[in-house]
Order: sequence, then C-alpha cells, then structure tokens
Amino acid sequence: MIWNTRITKMMNTQYPIIMGAFAIIGKAEFAAAFSNAGGLGIITALNFRTSDEFYDEIKKMKKLTNKPFGVNYTVWPPQVRQSGGRVQSEESYFDFVDIALEEGVKVITTSAYKAARIGKKVHDAGGVWFHKSATVKHAISAERAGADAVTIVGLEGTGFKNPNQNTTLVNMTMARKLIKVPLIAAGGIGDARGFLAALAMGADAVCFGSAIMATKESPASEAWKKQVLYQDIFDEKFYKKIFHLELRDSPVGSMAVGHVNEETSIKEFIENIVSNAERILRTWGVTGNEFRNL
Ligand SMILES: Cc1cc2nc3c(=O)[nH]c(=O)nc-3n(C[C@H](O)[C@H](O)[C@H](O)COP(=O)(O)O)c2cc1C
Repeated sequence: MIWNTRITKMMNTQYPIIMGAFAIIGKAEFAAAFSNAGGLGIITALNFRTSDEFYDEIKKMKKLTNKPFGVNYTVWPPQVRQSGGRVQSEESYFDFVDIALEEGVKVITTSAYKAARIGKKVHDAGGVWFHKSATVKHAISAERAGADAVTIVGLEGTGFKNPNQNTTLVNMTMARKLIKVPLIAAGGIGDARGFLAALAMGADAVCFGSAIMATKESPASEAWKKQVLYQDIFDEKFYKKIFHLELRDSPVGSMAVGHVNEETSIKEFIENIVSNAERILRTWGVTGNEFRNL
C-alpha cells in the first residue's frame, strides 16, 4: 500500500512515521536505521556540545543514509534552565541550525518551548519546521508562529510533562478541529492499531518514542531496554509516574512500552506497524492500494 499524507509529502518519506527526539540516544546510527526503514530519522541536537561534534554527526548521518532525515532542537523553558537544567535556549542552537541547513537538512523539528526564530531560519533556507508541544494550546501558538506542522504529545507519552496535558485521543480530535496545519500524534503509541487510530483521529503522521527504545539499533543501555521489555504498565507506581506528572527530566518509557515484548530491528518494527495496519484496513473492507488523507 502506498502511504500518502500531507506529512509524507513534506518529509518526502515512504511512511507517515517519524522518530521521537531522544536525549542521550538520538544519534546518527539509530536515526539512520529509522530513515532507511522508510520513516524520518531524527538526530537530537542537545546531545552534542560543540559545533564540530554536531557537524561530524550530520556528516556521519549522510554516510549512513541517503534517505531524508531531520534534526530536533529541544528548547527548554526558562524555569527549567533556571532550576539547574541544561541551558538549551533557542539562541544557543542558532549555529547548530545553520550547520544542519547548510548541510541540506530539510526537516527541522523543535520542541518544548518557543522556537519561532529557529522556524524563521528554516523557512529562509527553504526547509520545513515542525514544532512539538504537550498541549493543544501551545500547538495553536506554534501554528500562529508559522510552524508547518505540529506534534502534540499525549499524557500517556513520555518527555517533558505539562500539568494541562491531555490524552492523545483528546489532543488529536480537538486539534483537528482547531488547527489547519498537519498534525503529528505522539504519546502512548506502540502498535499498528495505535498508528491507525491516530490517523483516524486526524493525525497526518505518527511519532514513535518509547516503542523504539529497545530496538537493536537503539544505543539505550541494557537497563533502559529491560524497562521497555519487562515493564508492567499496570503497576501502580509506574502508572502514577506516567499520569501524575512525576516525569520531569526523568525519561522513562511511556505506556507505549506495553506493546514491546522483544528486541526487533527498526526495520522489523516499522514493517510490523505498516503490514499489520494494512491487514487491519483490509478486514475493515478497504480495497484500494493507497492510503491518503491529503
Ligand atoms: C529516553 C527518551 C528521551 C527523550 N528525549 C527527548 C528530548 O530530548 N526532546 C524531546 O522533544 N522529546 C524527547 N523525548 C520524547 C519523544 O521525543 C517523544 O515525544 C515521546 O517519546 C512520545 O511518546 P511515546 O514515548 O509514548 O512514544 C524523549 C523520550 C524518551 C523515551
């Protein structure tokens, strides 16, 4: 089946599937495997300290894949920077943004805090800018600021939590009514049914984070991989960590890990999602050879 959405067009990828940004592990080998499997692999800029290190990583990525890939710039809100977090202000990334654009990266993603000046640089260079937020309200602000697409992370996901966060279902169905630019669903998605459900709710693409942490190409530690593979998502403590906003700056796998029982390659992971989604669509009576929501 051919997968055609507004986001596959923007990303120029085979599938409407985008890799999450990852502190610590969002590096070239992992991202290249994702791009080579038909999704959009993402290098996460906060993992690099100097422009030289970052430039080398982009060069490495270009050797590992000839498919499209993106770069994420996670901008920490000022209160987090002040409370001892790493200083990842918008300005601190400007030289890294220039490097990515000069190296021909077309999709730049930002997350967490305001990043319109990064977005402007991307547009001036002819690229596309996706912004990721934890609330529909902030996604609306990002659309107003010029983002070409917005990712909204549901409460069942991981990453930076917001006290006003909603579930992926509420986010997508509400945002589809309130936002015109394409939407990317993130948060709690780990299998074909979640993937299809997100598209049905109005998403133009799906972002996978926790569900790919235990893949063969992921450089996550054995301890992290074990958490993904063996976590009981119905355990009370885990449930509270995810839904009671105790996650601040402590990246653990989300509810999506409930779908992961074995260590597969990224290629197997993406092929499973797509082939199972196609099988489900057939059981629903879909006969065509193209999925499109353009
Ligand atoms: C280990 C780990 C590190 C992450 N680091 C970042 C980050 O630096 N910046 C960011 O925007 N999101 C980060 N995320 C969030 C993901 O990009 C993505 O939004 C989230 O994982 C989606 O929810 P899911 O885990 O339920 O799929 C991280 C997620 C994990 C699991």
